[in-house]
Amino acid sequence: MTEYKAPRNKTIVLTPREETALARRAVKFAPQKKIEKLDNRIIWQDTFYALRYLPDNFADLMVVDPPYNLTKNFGKNVFRQTDMATYKKWLDRWLSKTVRILKPNASVYICSDWQSSLVIPEVASKYFVLRNRISWEREKGRAAANNWKNCLEDIWYFTKSDEFTFNLEAVKVQRKVLAPYRDTQGAPKDWQETDGQKMRYTAPSNIWTDITVPFWSMPENTEHPTQKPEKLIAKLILASSNAGDMVFDPFVGSGTTAVVAKKLGRRFLGIERERKYVALALKRLDIADANPAIQGYENGVFKGRNTAD
Ligand SMILES: C[S@@+](CC[C@H](N)C(=O)[O-])C[C@H]1O[C@@H](n2cnc3c(N)ncnc32)[C@H](O)[C@@H]1O
Repeated sequence: MTEYKAPRNKTIVLTPREETALARRAVKFAPQKKIEKLDNRIIWQDTFYALRYLPDNFADLMVVDPPYNLTKNFGKNVFRQTDMATYKKWLDRWLSKTVRILKPNASVYICSDWQSSLVIPEVASKYFVLRNRISWEREKGRAAANNWKNCLEDIWYFTKSDEFTFNLEAVKVQRKVLAPYRDTQGAPKDWQETDGQKMRYTAPSNIWTDITVPFWSMPENTEHPTQKPEKLIAKLILASSNAGDMVFDPFVGSGTTAVVAKKLGRRFLGIERERKYVALALKRLDIADANPAIQGYENGVFKGRNTAD
């Protein structure tokens, strides 16, 4: 039976045949099997298994969106909420295995909700230098009857050493100037006129309120239950890598990190164990060839929340 889809519903979906065909393009490691090219690939495997096959010092940037400590159905596998001590051990098990594959000047971003956020710096600081904590507002918070609605997510920022890339100019944000100040000659002080509006390009802070979580009318949307917005990942990749660098994501899900890396001219490698998500990632990567736009990022500028594109 064909599912009904509203005309403006842009959610990327897969037919069973498409899923099978796309998943065949994914990489799988096995003993004695040599994989020539790891650039721009999606590995369809358990990350704990696949990590041992990756070469030393190959990634410039790691963006990780691991399962949070919540019970969540990821396709055929369920991630089960556990006590914090066990979750910390689980974090440590994979994080410790990523250290050798990151270059000495690599950067690392780890996503979390407010609860898993409590333990991530503790675990990751064993291996990396803690640089910052970015908090961003999910405007689609999960409602609660007797608690504050949960709208906060954190992204912990680390580097492997004190030498690292940070492209501030690439992630400046556009703000409307409410009180446009002019110098004594009448010239704009620190703003400019863009499309008839007075705008300032300012250094981004570690609080982000301009992010839209993908929903049905956005072309990046898929059926993945915890898909990250392309705009969010674009900020991380632009700030902490250069064109041609290798961006690695060991829990790539529907492929957001890989897709954004491709759109921004970086190389990528992603690992995911669910066949459906692997296929979705590969489909999104195909779509990116025809349409490399990132919603909310236009001509090198990050637009405000919920702008058309
Ligand atoms: C939070 S989601 C990542 C979502 C992704 N950032 C996106 O935008 O689609 C975590 C993903 O990790 C995958 N996963 C969980 N445990 C895994 C494991 N041991 N090996 C590989 N993938 C795993 C899940 O299937 C899920 O897709």
